[in-house]
Amino acid sequence: MEFKSVEIIKLPKILDERGNLSFLEADNHIPFTIKRSYWIYDVPGGEQRGAHSYKINQEFVIALSGSFDVVVNDGIEVKTYTLNRSYYGLYIPNGIWRHMENFSTNSLAFVISSTDYNENDYERDYDNYLKSKLNH
Ligand code: TYD
Repeated sequence: MEFKSVEIIKLPKILDERGNLSFLEADNHIPFTIKRSYWIYDVPGGEQRGAHSYKINQEFVIALSGSFDVVVNDGIEVKTYTLNRSYYGLYIPNGIWRHMENFSTNSLAFVISSTDYNENDYERDYDNYLKSKLNH
């Protein structure tokens, strides 16, 4: 599998009358080694999170509960992905401007990252982001 662009990835789903089970393995179902995970929850209605890009960090985002939209922008095209199943996730490579919105009540956004938290890896200024894209 080639993973160089934003992509929905379907994870294994083990159906069981006792309850279903899904899983992922680093460098297998997702194209990076896991360094960190974080989660976003208790989002008030109408709020947005995560309007920025990363220079190096790659992410995989799963709606473990509820639903929300991930809006991704590569400087040319804007696409919205609705996540609402715990066995689908969105791979977001580095260099993509993204934010999350339309969080349902009690939604849980689980994010798996390829790097440790590093504020210097963030681009939080959209104009600077676009300029950096033009220079490539
Ligand atoms: P941030 O990624 O800036 O969230 P958003 O883009 O939605 O505003 O994270 C908010 C704060 O949380 C940030 O200032 C630092 C802290 N934080 C960590 O300490 N470790 C982490 O792994 C993350 C994702 C955030």
